[in-house]
Amino acid sequence: MGVSVFAPASVANLAVGYDTLGLCLDGPGDEVYAEFCDTPGITIASIEGDGGKLPLIPAKNTAGRAAQAVLEAVGNVRTGVSLKIHKKMPFGSGMGSSSASAVAGAMAVNELLDRPFSKYELLKFTAMGEQVADGAWHLDNVAPSLLGGIVLVRDGLTLDVQSIPVPDGLRVCVVHPDIEILTKDSRAILSDSVLLGDVIKQQSNLGGLIIGLYNNDLELISRSFKDHIIEPQRSKLIPHFYELQSEAFDLGALGCSISGAGPSVFAFCPNADVAENCGVAISSIWAKHGITCQVHQSGINPVGAKVI
Ligand code: HSE
Repeated sequence: MGVSVFAPASVANLAVGYDTLGLCLDGPGDEVYAEFCDTPGITIASIEGDGGKLPLIPAKNTAGRAAQAVLEAVGNVRTGVSLKIHKKMPFGSGMGSSSASAVAGAMAVNELLDRPFSKYELLKFTAMGEQVADGAWHLDNVAPSLLGGIVLVRDGLTLDVQSIPVPDGLRVCVVHPDIEILTKDSRAILSDSVLLGDVIKQQSNLGGLIIGLYNNDLELISRSFKDHIIEPQRSKLIPHFYELQSEAFDLGALGCSISGAGPSVFAFCPNADVAENCGVAISSIWAKHGITCQVHQSGINPVGAKVI
């Protein structure tokens, strides 16, 4: 008898918090089923929904690596766990696909072993899994996917993550065009140097966004939702980005930016009607230019990964 865990998609960065902010979506997400087996260590028995692209070698697979890290930390070298991974979201989408697998893998093994670690303690193992995908140590997808809500990563190395309150009724619309951008490529185009004036604007907006979320001040959230550093560099990877961003603002979105490393974009909306309208408008703009896409409507999921 095994355990299945669902880990949701997430939106990282939230425009002004590169590698720092992330939020948890209701769906889509990935599932991992874990059960004991005779072979010591982690074995990946099967992967569905990946089109044969993901490695079955646990150390090279985000779910497998995160699961290994949990098992190693428990220290019982004879225990064997077999995983079945169900990818239910696209790669290179900017919705935290590799993170969702890492979170589901770590949590499924933890549940199978009768929870030696708290959810928060799993964060380190999920980040080790995520690192397999892009070589970087960033928690802005794994933390919200695991813990739910909107999360600020104050310091990734010490796993100092803080939950931020979410005003009632906020909705997020994520639109995923049928284009693949790998996170490592989207990170590689970023300049190492940043103008001091842009840092000042960015940190002011990051502070403003967080105060707005704490105080339920939608106008402050909206004024703060402007990325002066990352979006100007990455927008060139996303066809017609400024056209669809402008349309989302016209329709009442509080913010609209690139979801994680792209190519998905998201609209941060005060209610479900605005989110629906943004989804229709953004997908219509892309359709007009011959780009197909999928629209995901979601609240901000307060729970994160869960046993199913
Ligand atoms: N913060 C990361 C990035 C998220 O933007 O590269 C990747 O999903």
